[in-house]
Formats: sequence, C-alpha cells, structure tokens
Amino acid sequence: SVYDVSLIKFPKIRDPRGNLTFIEQERHIPFKISRVYWIYDVPGGEKRGGHAFREQEEVIIALSGSFDVLLDDGKAQKIVHLNRAYHGLFVPKMIWRRMQNFSTNAVAYVLASCQYDENDYVRDYAQYTRLMQEMS
Ligand code: TYD
Repeated sequence: SVYDVSLIKFPKIRDPRGNLTFIEQERHIPFKISRVYWIYDVPGGEKRGGHAFREQEEVIIALSGSFDVLLDDGKAQKIVHLNRAYHGLFVPKMIWRRMQNFSTNAVAYVLASCQYDENDYVRDYAQYTRLMQEMS
C-alpha cells in the first residue's frame, strides 16, 4: 500500500566547499540496483511516469530541483514533495506513481531493481485497480 512507501535519508557530508552525499547499495537500498535512469529537461507542467510496475522496485531522488510524486494503491493516495538531494523515496512494486510539478532544472534520478522491461509496466489505471482487487 502507499503506506509502504518510505523516505530514505542518505548521508550528507556538509562542507563549506560544497556538500557531498553517497549511496551504498547494501547500506541504503532495499534491493539490488540493476539500472539507473534519470529524467530531466522536463517542460513546465509536464507529468511523467503515470504507471505501476508489477515487479520493479525503485528509489526516486530529486538530485536537483524539486517535483512531486503522486502515489496511489487503488484505495489511498499520497503526494510526496521531493526537494533534497540526500532523500530517496522507496516505492515498492505495484504502487501507481506519477511525477509532476517539476521545477526548472529538476533532475529525477531513479535507482531501479530491474532492467527495462515494457511487460513489467501497468500503464492503464483501470487495469491497475483490477489487478489490485485480484491481489487482495
Ligand atoms: P517511461 O518509463 O514510459 O517514461 P515515464 O517516466 O514517462 O513513464 O519511458 C519512456 C520511454 O523510454 C519508453 O518508451 C521506454 C524508454 N525507456 C527505456 O528504454 N529504458 C529505460 O530504462 C526507461 C526508464 C525508459
């Protein structure tokens, strides 16, 4: 459910020369990272990622700028505003998620547990709610 979505706080090494954050898979990420992708140059008002994944889990990071992640499990909805380069949003499998309200120069950096596979996507919301009902 959307209540399984959680915010992971990565280490932040503050430094007058500029801050530094790092991720160690085994310490900070609840799955094995198979792929990293990022979304950038998003025109004002555009939305990305209106879908769920059957198997894939993700950690979404606002590496630069900010955006909202809308999460939906078919029953409850939640919006998480991401605007810190040291926060990661863990999204378990089968959560509907959409990214919206991107700021100028926002970069959504996504760690994923699977390689790209179009068959893992559920892109139709009606099909998503049907699948969720079958699973419960
Ligand atoms: P998609 O995940 O549908 O974007 P959105 O975030 O808007 O849902 O991906 C858009 C296109 O990019 C799609 O045709 C597949 C391709 N793609 C890859 O080839 N590899 C990837 O790792 C990703 C994330 C997308």
